[in-house]
Amino acid sequence: MSEPDFLTRTRISYDAIADAYAEWIRDMEVSPWDDAVLAAFARRVAGRGPVLDAGCGEGRITAQLVSMEVDARGVDLSPEMIRNAQAFRPDLRFEVGSLMDLPYEDEAYAGVVAWYSLIHVPPSRLRAAVAELVRVLEPGGWFLAAFQTDAETFRPETLAEIPVSLEFHRPDAAEFGALLGDLGLDVDATTVRAADDGPGHPTPHAYVVARKRG
Ligand SMILES: C[S@@+](CC[C@H](N)C(=O)[O-])C[C@H]1O[C@@H](n2cnc3c(N)ncnc32)[C@H](O)[C@@H]1O
Repeated sequence: MSEPDFLTRTRISYDAIADAYAEWIRDMEVSPWDDAVLAAFARRVAGRGPVLDAGCGEGRITAQLVSMEVDARGVDLSPEMIRNAQAFRPDLRFEVGSLMDLPYEDEAYAGVVAWYSLIHVPPSRLRAAVAELVRVLEPGGWFLAAFQTDAETFRPETLAEIPVSLEFHRPDAAEFGALLGDLGLDVDATTVRAADDGPGHPTPHAYVVARKRG
């Protein structure tokens, strides 16, 4: 079966911007909320088993989790993002794969993170994407998603002056929590923070932590 058009466009776009993205993200000022949420999640999952960073990009969140004693590894749709992740941290495990169809057994992970990766899944496919992430999570395992929220879909034609065909969706945090509930998770915490100051950061951000029942 041929892959959906949005996946092909997302892969090609991230392959094209991979080097520019790596440069931009390493210079980006990280919100203290990011650190706080990742630390809270790390306390939940450290020592429980492997944790998947789904849509890991160039690996910064995988590395941050590992620095907090989490057995994290990354998977990403874009081979070029994975190439940069592996160059950034040759000691960590990264591989190419889609979060819509993960190359892992059921219940293989004690934790799953989707850190600004579900944003590229169209709303009509979000349920299927989250269900796939939940499939690989063990009963009692922990889930974390971060995403921009409360804004219109963003469709840039270029990023870093490189042509792209990308959509950035902004799910509603309460609706996202309800979806997790439908898919067999209990929401542990939902945090919505205000947009960052300055141009280019126009949306609030949501973090949702949940635990798989069972
Ligand atoms: C905004 S970047 C975030 C990267 C990383 N999580 C971070 O915060 O630095 C989005 C990432 O999600 C990946 N991605 C998008 N759709 C995906 C899919 N269906 N499966 C796996 N990765 C995907 C992209 O290739 C890209 O690396």
